[in-house]
Amino acid sequence: MPVHRLTPLLLCLLPMWRILTPVSSHPQHSRCQLIQRTALCNNGKLSFVPTELPDNIEELQLNYNHIHTLHSILLYPSIKTLSLACNSLEKLESNTFQYFSKFLDSLNLANNNLHIGYQESSQALKTLPRIRALDLSENKLDDEMAATLLQNLTSLEYLNLSGNLLQRLDETSFRDLHKLKELDLQRNIMFEIDGAFDSNPKLQRLNLAFNYLPCLIDFHMTQLVVLNASHNFIEWFISTQDLNDTFQLETLDLSDNKLLFFPFLPNQSHLRNLYLSHNSIRFYEHLTDNTTFLNLTTTVEFYNLKTYMSNVTAKLWDESLHGDISSLEILDLRGNQVEYFPRGFIHKMPALSRLRMCTNCLETLNLTSEQFSGSLYELDFSNNRLNQIVADENTLTTFDNLTYLNLSLNDLEWLPSGLFSSLPSLRSVDLSYNNIDICPPDKAETSTNNISLCVDWKNVISLRQLYLKGCNLERIPSSAFAGLPLTHLELSDNPGLIAQESIQSLSRTLQHLGLGNTHIQDFDFSHFQSLKSLNISRNSLDHLPPSLLNLHLKVLDVRDNRLSNIPSGHAKTLAPKLHTVFLTGNPFNCCQTEWFRTFETTKTINMVGQSDIECKDLFQTTHRVEHFQSFLCLEESAESVFWYILLIVPFSFLGISVIVLLTFKPKILKKSIKKKYLKPTSY
Ligand SMILES: *[C@@H]1O[C@H](CO)[C@@H](O)[C@H](O)[C@H]1NC(C)=O
Ligand SMILES: *[C@@H]1O[C@H](CO)[C@@H](O)[C@H](O)[C@H]1NC(C)=O
Ligand SMILES: *[C@@H]1O[C@H](CO)[C@@H](O)[C@H](O)[C@H]1NC(C)=O
Ligand SMILES: *[C@@H]1O[C@H](CO)[C@@H](O)[C@H](O)[C@H]1NC(C)=O
Ligand SMILES: *[C@@H]1O[C@H](CO)[C@@H](O)[C@H](O)[C@H]1NC(C)=O
Ligand SMILES: *[C@@H]1O[C@H](CO)[C@@H](O)[C@H](O)[C@H]1NC(C)=O
Ligand SMILES: *[C@@H]1O[C@H](CO)[C@@H](O)[C@H](O)[C@H]1NC(C)=O
Ligand SMILES: *[C@@H]1O[C@H](CO)[C@@H](O)[C@H](O)[C@H]1NC(C)=O
Ligand SMILES: *[C@@H]1O[C@H](CO)[C@@H](O)[C@H](O)[C@H]1NC(C)=O
Ligand SMILES: *[C@@H]1O[C@H](CO)[C@@H](O)[C@H](O)[C@H]1NC(C)=O
Ligand SMILES: *[C@@H]1O[C@H](CO)[C@@H](O)[C@H](O)[C@H]1NC(C)=O
Ligand SMILES: *[C@@H]1O[C@H](CO)[C@@H](O)[C@H](O)[C@H]1NC(C)=O
Repeated sequence: MPVHRLTPLLLCLLPMWRILTPVSSHPQHSRCQLIQRTALCNNGKLSFVPTELPDNIEELQLNYNHIHTLHSILLYPSIKTLSLACNSLEKLESNTFQYFSKFLDSLNLANNNLHIGYQESSQALKTLPRIRALDLSENKLDDEMAATLLQNLTSLEYLNLSGNLLQRLDETSFRDLHKLKELDLQRNIMFEIDGAFDSNPKLQRLNLAFNYLPCLIDFHMTQLVVLNASHNFIEWFISTQDLNDTFQLETLDLSDNKLLFFPFLPNQSHLRNLYLSHNSIRFYEHLTDNTTFLNLTTTVEFYNLKTYMSNVTAKLWDESLHGDISSLEILDLRGNQVEYFPRGFIHKMPALSRLRMCTNCLETLNLTSEQFSGSLYELDFSNNRLNQIVADENTLTTFDNLTYLNLSLNDLEWLPSGLFSSLPSLRSVDLSYNNIDICPPDKAETSTNNISLCVDWKNVISLRQLYLKGCNLERIPSSAFAGLPLTHLELSDNPGLIAQESIQSLSRTLQHLGLGNTHIQDFDFSHFQSLKSLNISRNSLDHLPPSLLNLHLKVLDVRDNRLSNIPSGHAKTLAPKLHTVFLTGNPFNCCQTEWFRTFETTKTINMVGQSDIECKDLFQTTHRVEHFQSFLCLEESAESVFWYILLIVPFSFLGISVIVLLTFKPKILKKSIKKKYLKPTSY
């Protein structure tokens, strides 16, 4: 329908319409909510733009409707922000915006079908001289469609093209977007970018995550502040090395790629956050000064679709050319293949506060020679092959901001003596899965050459969280935790652990206690009045420790024990307090499941793996508690009735006569036996 003829008609009808519609009742408003000059009409099953809104509204949200045409939008000439995400738009008629194009500042067209009418839509967008933000994500747009839609949008500052079908970007892609500041190109199928951003000198934030890019070379976008190229197939990141400018780059995310080398960063930059997790990065310094390897290539050649070849000479083996890392605060190298740090590498980062090295191949660590910065706050060396960590006394005093230390999953046997007592800010230490011993009380530390075979935490009053899972601990000395204000203690996976006495000193402060798989039996929890979370899974417990009932537990893990029942009194006490409970892996009795109903009907509790909680019936057949019908506690067949009878006879005071009577009336029998059987036994 030609819009320009419809418009005057609509505009004439509008006053009449408003007079005819009493102000007090707004039946058509029902799907919209008005807040000052904002109309929220999301999720309203609307097929058209509503016509009865005040004509001075400035923001109109029509997300999640079935709108496929924008005709009546011209009723609202003051709109600045228009949001039409998740509708059925196939095109914008070329004159859609002609009456109010002066104001429109932000337009959200995400999740529509603009690939169908992109040419006409492009005409409509051209009439918006002031548009600053445009969201075209999830519209099945390919390279040509996007380029067409973006023609002449010279005022655009924020553009979202994520979730489309872009493959290759070149200098024509964003040619007119001279003011562009932020561009989201996530989740396309891009494999090549060739000079695409040369016309966008103001671009500061660029997201290229989840594409198919094999490399980023000749990186020279000096004005860019955030570059996210995670989840691609990038093997090389090489910045232009001979630029004299300082790059503005602060955040670079190259995680989940295929990097073999530490990225070749700009020579001068303000880079603060560098995310490189899940690549194959290692250092090759040991090859540099090895004459037998001098024949290794030093240049890499890159070809692109136009067979234009660029030689990037990257001095591959010279580790002194990583670029400027002097402003780095976060370095995330989780999941790489780092065996060592090149000489002076750590020292080049005087502002480093978080170093994440989880899952690499480090074998030794000499804190003295690495010269870490004093601003270090988080250090994660978990899951490496560390056998020892060395540091002299002076070095340890520089770590006065170190707060989180994770050394779990190594082969640590040796630690610098006095390590923990030298770290005044230490809050959390994870030493799980090492061969660590706790120092006996008499000989505080067995130290030779600043190295200690056992650990202790004397006077570490900042310490709150201590993880000692799977350390082959047997008996913890009774004074081991004396004076520590621990809130979190994890001792799981130390089978046969004797800890009751040592833990008592933490009874006031402890909020989480992990004793899973420690073979504990009769642990008295009654003094642990602050305890909120308790893990006693995998301990062969056949009943819940009664001392739990007086605590205000929120999380309880009793998986994989031998519980057959939770007395209903206990369940009723626990249910209102617990938020999360783990119960799977216990051989519950199918005919004593009142506790299950109690937990199930308590809305505030989350029974994790509820449908996997199993029980056994009289015949040791396993059922899911959730689906078990309690009448199945009896079998219908006459044989099993007899079986039940035989079982019950010794306990029944009703005598043989009743049974005889009931055998002839099986229905009554079922009922009466069921009742007896279901009666909860209390422990
Ligand atoms: C729109 O852009 C094209 C090329 O991108 C240019 O030739 C044309 O002059 C521009 N039109 C206006 C109105 O700016
Ligand atoms: C772009 O759109 C996608 C999907 O609609 C959304 O997830 C993403 O947050 C948007 N990007 C920005 C920078 O707003
Ligand atoms: C990069 O993008 C991915 C995907 O959107 C996101 O998960 C990640 O947090 C981003 N990285 C940064 C540093 O913001
Ligand atoms: C790289 O930076 C260093 C120090 O900032 C400077 O001495 C050197 O000349 C720079 N190299 C180039 C090619 O700009
Ligand atoms: C870099 O810039 C400085 C001054 O800004 C200048 O002195 C120097 O010669 C330049 N170096 C190169 C390699 O262009
Ligand atoms: C040179 O490489 C060989 C073979 O990998 C190695 O055994 C040797 O230690 C290296 N020499 C130096 C000085 O790194
Ligand atoms: C290095 O290259 C030279 C000439 O190409 C060759 O003669 C020599 O054997 C090579 N050395 C090694 C260690 O591969
Ligand atoms: C790249 O380098 C190789 C070897 O150094 C040379 O043969 C080739 O001509 C160079 N190509 C270009 C485009 O510079
Ligand atoms: C650790 O590094 C320091 C300083 O470089 C050095 O003196 C010390 O011998 C090293 N210790 C070990 C065990 O390598
Ligand atoms: C310690 O680390 C925290 C977190 O990174 C930081 O905010 C604080 O400024 C640091 N303090 C010192 C003295 O470096
Ligand atoms: C320490 O690292 C391990 C392995 O990366 C991880 O599972 C654990 O949660 C970390 N500990 C803490 C306290 O964050
Ligand atoms: C409780 O401890 C066991 C044994 O270490 C562990 O497998 C389980 O994940 C822990 N439960 C919770 C909720 O963390």
